[in-house]
Amino acid sequence: MRRKLAAGNWKMNGTAASLAELETLKSLLPANAPDVVICPPAPLLFRASEAARDTGIQIGAQDCHMQDSGAFTGDISAAMIADTGATHVIVGHSERRAAHDEHDRDVRKKATAAWAAGLTAIICIGEALEDREADNTLDIIAGQLAGSLPDHVSAANTVIAYEPIWAIGTGKIPTLEQIVEVHDFVRSKIVTRFGADTGDMIPLLYGGSVKPDNAATIFEAANVDGALVGGASLKAADFAPIITALANS
Ligand code: 13P
Repeated sequence: MRRKLAAGNWKMNGTAASLAELETLKSLLPANAPDVVICPPAPLLFRASEAARDTGIQIGAQDCHMQDSGAFTGDISAAMIADTGATHVIVGHSERRAAHDEHDRDVRKKATAAWAAGLTAIICIGEALEDREADNTLDIIAGQLAGSLPDHVSAANTVIAYEPIWAIGTGKIPTLEQIVEVHDFVRSKIVTRFGADTGDMIPLLYGGSVKPDNAATIFEAANVDGALVGGASLKAADFAPIITALANS
């Protein structure tokens, strides 16, 4: 059985007061809860890790630098993230790719840096609207997988999140058939490249406008093992029903 994971990406939202949501979320988790990871902004990582201790909730960062240390003003290394008590890091989010000019080769290096620090990398891929409209989605996904995934992925160190860019923060989601098509394609690609023992065990998340009212449908897809949730992860009252839908899928 693959592990199920509900990951919340708070993006550039939240201050210390927001950590109360972790306590509320804990109280709302179902008994059969899947893995739950909250990725707050970097200044909250340490306090979030402390607040999440013994809650069953894990903490992740939203990005890391590819180098261990050095003259990189404003950047944060994977080792620093691990030092806060965090266990995961998102790499290659489309907002980083677009706003910080990150490319597949950067994402690959960041994933490798994450592993070296003992973190699980949540590697993001996803097509733009023009790619979708030009019927290029699977080509784009194949290219991102080939370029962004290092050679030594394992089910323990890697999660892949498919986030169509046009679905992020828009309230638009692909049809279930479109989600199934991409997730089945990703699964077949990673099984081919890494073998069934690894490729069949890596969790695949869907991300982009996942909400309490659409989560159960999305989780019907056999190769959707969870979600990477933005806006609806900010409030425990919104995130908890998504987690429950995943637990019951
Ligand atoms: P939304 O759930 O707000 O669409 O964000 C998705 C996302 O980008 C998560 O990483």
